[in-house]
Amino acid sequence: MATGITDKSASKRRVKSYRIEYDGKQDVDSILSGTGCIFDRIIEGKEDNSFYYGDNINVLHHLIDSGMSGKVRLVYIDPPYATKSAFVGRNQKYAYSDSLAGADYIEFLRERIILIRELLADNGSMYLHLDGNMAFPMKLIMDEIFGASNCRAFITRKKCSTKNYTKNTFGNVCDYVMFYSKTGDYVWNRPYDPWDEDKMLREYPYVTEDGRRYKKVPIHAPGVRHGATGGKWKGMMPPEGKHWQYTPEKLTQLDEAGDIYWSPNGNPRRKVYCDAKKGVPIQDLWLNYRDSINQQMKTTGYPTEKNIDMLRMIVQASSESGDYVMDCFAGGGTTLGAAQELGRRWIGADNSPESLSAVIRRFRDGLQDYGDYVSKPFDQSELTLKTETDGTRFSLFSEHAKTDEALSIIKSVG
Ligand SMILES: C[S@@+](CC[C@H](N)C(=O)[O-])C[C@H]1O[C@@H](n2cnc3c(N)ncnc32)[C@H](O)[C@@H]1O
Repeated sequence: MATGITDKSASKRRVKSYRIEYDGKQDVDSILSGTGCIFDRIIEGKEDNSFYYGDNINVLHHLIDSGMSGKVRLVYIDPPYATKSAFVGRNQKYAYSDSLAGADYIEFLRERIILIRELLADNGSMYLHLDGNMAFPMKLIMDEIFGASNCRAFITRKKCSTKNYTKNTFGNVCDYVMFYSKTGDYVWNRPYDPWDEDKMLREYPYVTEDGRRYKKVPIHAPGVRHGATGGKWKGMMPPEGKHWQYTPEKLTQLDEAGDIYWSPNGNPRRKVYCDAKKGVPIQDLWLNYRDSINQQMKTTGYPTEKNIDMLRMIVQASSESGDYVMDCFAGGGTTLGAAQELGRRWIGADNSPESLSAVIRRFRDGLQDYGDYVSKPFDQSELTLKTETDGTRFSLFSEHAKTDEALSIIKSVG
């Protein structure tokens, strides 16, 4: 694999900007100037964790109006994908319809992403999960809103096992996750996959006398340098067109510590030890996070529910304990559950009655094997209807418009 070297004249050249245009594209100021309040707020346990039942455009405006701008460290959203489908859950109840398409879809999502960016902390990040239907126009929109240089990764995820696809094309087993940060300074705790024994033996084939497994890597890199890394070390120049990866002083230090391997013909290479690594850093191809319905994993039974291990990994990578994590297309509450487990505060929103019901089930009953689903009546003593929380399991704030509806959904959870 060839590694390119920085072309200084190309990086100085002004890059012309581009944008995606469509009918009905509003200007950013008019999007930001809206207000909203038609939702109900359900508090889980303590005040810090809220689920808003209602259209998220209202919820996002409300959060901005109530002083949450700049306070959310991480947002993950997995909105509808413009599939022109309707979805029912494990209990066969209608959950939501994914009917918007084309420019209407793009503007629907763009408005919400503009508001989400306002809510993000300066060192916060956003993950947008989509499939091949709209990922590519939405990449251009994300670049417009966050700046293309804040795109940290465009991830391909394997969502399910190989299918017996009947269409005359390649089986569709992947979707995409775009990872953007608000600025260049963002929370990042690099995630690792554990070592696979065979892979470790293959990648780190050498063993030191005291039993440490290692591999040998070059000590030079592409590109000519005129400073110390371009000069002589132990009487040797770096190979033509290359420079030393470290200064001659640092290379000498590594050599004295026994961390340089010298081949029989005098070629130096650096020893990289396996025990110095936490595991295999996760790359932008995710093969280990297939959706729960495709594995024998536990779920709430909400349709399109994502893999909780994927959300645990994202929450850990891009937030710290105590941070606010938000998912305003919450569905079965996978992001909220991962945030709760990892000691983060959470904000969820969804306008589907089935989502409200699934989120309550998640926190009340935990997850269940797909086949083991049984409904359970809601214990009224777990619910208070009030304007202040008092430690009761679920508190429904009553000042908003859809309270009766929310109340009857909560009472019928099962
Ligand atoms: C793909 S599902 C999310 C699934 C979720 N990631 C999970 O793991 O369960 C998309 C969700 O967006 C919700 N949704 C769609 N439009 C919405 C809107 N305007 N406001 C709030 N929620 C909305 C739907 O009800 C649905 O639950």
